[in-house]
Amino acid sequence: MKLYKAKDYEDMSRKAANIISAQVTLKPDSVLGLATGSTPIGTYKRLIEGYRNGDLDFSQVKSVNLDEYRGLTRDNDQSYYYFMYNNLFKDINIDLNNTNIPDGTEPDSEKECARYEAVVESMGGVDIQVLGLGHNGHIGFNEPADEFPKTTHCVDLTESTIEANKRFFADVNDVPRQAYTMGIKTIMSAKTILLLVSGADKAQILHDCLCGPIVPQVPASILQLHGDVIVIADEAAMSKF
Ligand code: F6R
Repeated sequence: MKLYKAKDYEDMSRKAANIISAQVTLKPDSVLGLATGSTPIGTYKRLIEGYRNGDLDFSQVKSVNLDEYRGLTRDNDQSYYYFMYNNLFKDINIDLNNTNIPDGTEPDSEKECARYEAVVESMGGVDIQVLGLGHNGHIGFNEPADEFPKTTHCVDLTESTIEANKRFFADVNDVPRQAYTMGIKTIMSAKTILLLVSGADKAQILHDCLCGPIVPQVPASILQLHGDVIVIADEAAMSKF
């Protein structure tokens, strides 16, 4: 595991974008594993700048996202498809046919999870998977549990996650209660994992994930077992080290 301390959110975003840019430059048909949430927004902004400057070409890139709320349509402004389209895809030259996000509108969860797992597998391996970190240690929507969930599955979101996400919705009752997410095995099969963490509110959980026991109650602790993890955390998030 490589752990880089960034000065602040901007510095974290720049460092992360540099790593992803190098990946795309060295392998133009890279498979990028992408995340939503507030953490990677600055990284995506820098990737857009790289494209606009002529430094980056996404025309052959493929992407797979970690997760999607169950029940939200793509045009719902809280769906993760909407997020990815508006924070990255619409401003770079990625072919939308090469982007993949679980289909939140598929009511048959087993069918959708099996389809999505097969999509990820068919990519032949995610080259670099971007992850944010939940306050309870979740990655994707793999919430604390008694065992590590393996493949793409439908989850009931915890109260802490619903609470954290309610800021994006008009009313807490509008926050979806379920999501489709890659499983821990799906995430761990990525060749490289890029974990981004910002803010003092993540300091304790980051320390628990990287230095504590590897337990499903702290889902991101499993990353200690991956052979190629890059963590970029800002000073505030690193304050417990
Ligand atoms: C997003 C995702 C989540 C977030 C996590 C952190 O696709 O899977 O695990 O990465 O909830 O969210 P932020 O970045 O908003 O703190």
